[in-house]
Amino acid sequence: MTALMAAGTSIQDQAVKRRFPAGFWWGAATAAYQIEGAVSEDGRTPCIWDTFAATPGKVANGDSGNPATEHYFRYRDDVALMAELGLGAYRFSVAWPRVRPRGQQTNAKGLAFYDRLVDELLSKGIRPVATLYHWDLPQELEDQGGWANRETAHRFGEYANDVAEKLGDRVALWNTLNEPWCSAFLGYGSGAHAPGKKNHADALKAVHHLLLGHGLAVQAIRANTSQAEIALAINAGVVRAVSEKESDVDAARRIDGLLNRIFLDPVFKGHYPQDVIEDTKTISDWAHVQETDLQIISQKIDGLGLNYYQPDLVGAAEPGTGETDGPYPNNDKVKWHRVSGPRTEMDWPVDPTGLEEILLRVKRDYGDIPLYITENGAAYPDQVVDGAVHDNDRIDFLNRHLAAAHQALDKGANLRGYFVWSLLDNFEWALGYGKRFGIVHVDYQTQVRTLKQSALWYRDVINAGGITA
Ligand code: FCB
Repeated sequence: MTALMAAGTSIQDQAVKRRFPAGFWWGAATAAYQIEGAVSEDGRTPCIWDTFAATPGKVANGDSGNPATEHYFRYRDDVALMAELGLGAYRFSVAWPRVRPRGQQTNAKGLAFYDRLVDELLSKGIRPVATLYHWDLPQELEDQGGWANRETAHRFGEYANDVAEKLGDRVALWNTLNEPWCSAFLGYGSGAHAPGKKNHADALKAVHHLLLGHGLAVQAIRANTSQAEIALAINAGVVRAVSEKESDVDAARRIDGLLNRIFLDPVFKGHYPQDVIEDTKTISDWAHVQETDLQIISQKIDGLGLNYYQPDLVGAAEPGTGETDGPYPNNDKVKWHRVSGPRTEMDWPVDPTGLEEILLRVKRDYGDIPLYITENGAAYPDQVVDGAVHDNDRIDFLNRHLAAAHQALDKGANLRGYFVWSLLDNFEWALGYGKRFGIVHVDYQTQVRTLKQSALWYRDVINAGGITA
């Protein structure tokens, strides 16, 4: 028995009340820009987040992805930690500006990093799950219009081809995109994320070009390997109306359209939702959608990743009182209401019922698609005390969400795996290093990793194949 095992809170002896199916993927997730650091190593060039972070006032504390957790140099140790926890799968993202610096030619040295990482994972029996786009668009492509420019979708397809050619024989599951809602509506709508643009018509173009890029990437991956399982990861959420009043129900419909259906309908039904087109017609004529695009976008895929954190509670805004510079093109018609109950350090409400609901909703509305919870987790103000991090709030959060996921399984959801966000504390985008989501604590001065109690608890859950409550 290792020291690590001795320190854990063993649940093996207790009765497991909710057992997950044999073969369930127990994983953890990260993203390149949030953990790798090494921003100028081996030919990597800046992405939109390097630029955004260097712009005063955009990221808390003036933080940036440099040096983050130095995972680029420490990946072997990090994979050893994953093995110690018993992870069956690891979801990481590939940095586009490493593989295609400036968005141009292929860079063998950049690709080689992921080649080494994948081999290291496989040597420990951990399935590699690769995300192709977790928000690090090469800056030069942004300078040519970014995702508002159709050409970016083609550049993405070429980059996907490079990665699939190199890793296609070993990646267990691909996620083409991570949360395209954030890329489009936070990147080009509210400007809260890189590239920090505020133009709602461009945000709608970005939605489409991201989806087109997804379809082109699916083609590129299929061209390189016959064994690929391909999905995309979206932050599909549950949007609840604050009352049954018609105007509140209509506000929920609008937001559901722009959060969920604007992505799911094209991918799984081959068309954009008519009500969303109607709702946004004063902002966009949708002329950016070309005739054959939807065939490319709706090519068959093998699964769907759902990132779940919290539900939305919305109602109608009184005329003239709505927010006009939020992420959504029709933000001014909607008022956000506070969900009651406990909250995380992000001020996000803790509500696992939304997770069960979204898993079942996808099945009801889009069919029996294999589902993965590709992200779920919480930030809390963790502290290392005498070498330990007692993050009981996080354990409770994860436990309750796993219970909700299990309930969805019981009711017929085709759920195949669960990935904690995140393996490591990391660069939390516009909020910098202040928000810690890891089950492993990172001391940013020394880069020392400390397993939090939640990591030990998760190791026991994996080992037991389920949870006790
Ligand atoms: C998601 C992102 C992920 C992380 C979590 C907290 O929206 O995909 O990178 O920042 O939120």
